[in-house]
Amino acid sequence: MSAPTILEGQGLTMRFGGLMAMAEVDFTLRKGEILGIIGPNGAGKSTLLNIVTGLYKPSSGAVRLAGERIDGLPAHRIVAMGIARTFQSSRLFGDLSVLDNVVIGRHALMKSGLLDAILRRGRAQAELNDAAERAAALLKAVSRDLYAQRHRPAAELPQADRRRLEIARALASEPRVLLLDEPSSGMDDADTDALMADIRAICAARPDLALMIIEHDMRLVAALPHRVLVLDYGQKLADGPYEEVRKIPRVQEAYLGRKAAQHARA
Ligand SMILES: Nc1ncnc2c1ncn2[C@@H]1O[C@H](COP(=O)(O)OP(=O)(O)O)[C@@H](O)[C@H]1O
Ligand SMILES: [Mg+2]
Repeated sequence: MSAPTILEGQGLTMRFGGLMAMAEVDFTLRKGEILGIIGPNGAGKSTLLNIVTGLYKPSSGAVRLAGERIDGLPAHRIVAMGIARTFQSSRLFGDLSVLDNVVIGRHALMKSGLLDAILRRGRAQAELNDAAERAAALLKAVSRDLYAQRHRPAAELPQADRRRLEIARALASEPRVLLLDEPSSGMDDADTDALMADIRAICAARPDLALMIIEHDMRLVAALPHRVLVLDYGQKLADGPYEEVRKIPRVQEAYLGRKAAQHARA
């Protein structure tokens, strides 16, 4: 893939007290690329997303979006610059409607301040109306099924639809980079297949959108990403197409557990 780089990390290191959660990790992501992030629990996968989205300021290293330094910027600035994410555990507003949850995702793009909103000044109202219209169109494009349920409280949706809604909400900020943290966790095979179809449709509709997907389901990892970054104990073990990295002994060991790998070789 030879598209230009949209996002890159260099020498990313994250210490929590005495714990080294990430050590000198480099990565690149190109426009239109899907990068898988895999590794055992505690490997540093979510930490990497938290650094990129501004929830964590790295102890050292740099993150650049389209060449511009973003590490250490506040999370809301980074969303407004074009990086959106979903979380490992749901962050939907359960009492709000499906549609309103997507409207909230557009918040990063709205110019009106709180005071405008309270006073219902013209601009705030016009922006809200516009946001609601765009949110409805987005929902319809992501999933007709979700669109049909747009007036239901989000909490009433089945789990797979809630995941889908979180992705729709992230897309509402019109990101250049979309980060998904374990989107298929807790899903059965049928729901995971539907999720993969959704992600493919999203990418087909937005050819420049770049994705980073943290994932445990190896069916998804084998099928979607162009490239996979393998982390273990905060270190980068490998980076390449899944078919290649899965054959690397240290990657297999990280997954099997060192003892099991030694046993298998014996
Ligand atoms: N805010 C934090 N404070 C302290 N330790 C953290 C924090 N966030 C992550 N860690 C630690 O960093 C390591 C990597 O965690 P994480 O990135 O969540 O792993 P993964 O997502 O790969 O399972 C773990 O040992 C975890 O306990
Ligand atoms: Mg995690």
